[in-house]
Amino acid sequence: MLVRPALLPSWPPRLEDLFGRAGPLVLEIGFGDGRFAAELAKAHPGWLLLGAEVSAGSVVRALRRLRREGVENVRLYHGQGPFALRNLVPERSLLQVIVNFPDPWPKKRHRGRRLLQESFFRRLSTRLGEGGALLLTTDHEEYFRFALEEAERTGLYRVEVRPPPETHLRTKYALKWEAAGRGFFHAVFTKVAEDPSPWPPIRRYPVAHALLEGNLPESLPFRKTPVPLRKGMAVFLEVARGEEGAYVLTRVEEEDLVQELLLEVRESERGLYAGVSRFGSPLITDGVRQAVAALVRLLEPLGLKVVQDHTGEGLR
Ligand SMILES: C[S@@+](CC[C@H](N)C(=O)[O-])C[C@H]1O[C@@H](n2cnc3c(N)ncnc32)[C@H](O)[C@@H]1O
Repeated sequence: MLVRPALLPSWPPRLEDLFGRAGPLVLEIGFGDGRFAAELAKAHPGWLLLGAEVSAGSVVRALRRLRREGVENVRLYHGQGPFALRNLVPERSLLQVIVNFPDPWPKKRHRGRRLLQESFFRRLSTRLGEGGALLLTTDHEEYFRFALEEAERTGLYRVEVRPPPETHLRTKYALKWEAAGRGFFHAVFTKVAEDPSPWPPIRRYPVAHALLEGNLPESLPFRKTPVPLRKGMAVFLEVARGEEGAYVLTRVEEEDLVQELLLEVRESERGLYAGVSRFGSPLITDGVRQAVAALVRLLEPLGLKVVQDHTGEGLR
């Protein structure tokens, strides 16, 4: 039920990898407590519903609901909607994208955080099938007008403003705003053309590690060390010492993917191993490989010598 990108058998995944079968695909971004996804999936048992949600608490609540209600045709991804759109959705495969009550980010300085921006609509056009559409429902008139303008600027959509379907007004937030006496806005953005720029899935690598020679010092002075990446940022947050070596809690931020993972420097049969711990099944991306390479670079002045480098950053 929960999609773990690092554990998928093929990359990018096929619908069969995600759902066990092919079928019409619908993506819901920001599914909250999952009640809309559950209802939609039950109303269309032949459809395949992928949900993306950044809040861990909401993902847990939605998973419980789907299990309780015996819903089989939904898969949930814990993370950014654009990440799911880019990496889990095959090109030209989507029948619909549902966005119910997106966070409005009303302050001017936060507008860049809004989901429904021109760049999003452009990229979305590469994942929608022919005649595929995004359905937006919101109580926030200013964000609604903003989304209409952003989509219209692309020239890739036919936009129709309609009364919201009754089913879209039964979500947690719809009921909350109805009780507060707010009005609702709904639009259907139907794809009529496609952005010509390709949007390939993020690259997933099989390994990122190095082997070193020497004695690992008792403590590693890497706590709160920032590591600039070619596209993003990593930080070594904490270092813990275990019996076999040291573990470095690392945050890696790349575009629409943020991962917290453990890097490890530990004794192995072939020498001192510096690489990504399997704990948490992180996705080995270019940023993760660069973070491992940065760790190795910091180990060298402590008297360790690199003998094999599989970080993708070369043996120096
Ligand atoms: C206002 S709530 C609406 C929840 C639900 N759709 C409803 O109508 O009850 C917005 C939801 O979107 C989620 N969210 C915000 N930005 C997101 C993103 N980029 N990707 C996925 N989920 C996101 C939030 O965590 C939150 O659960």
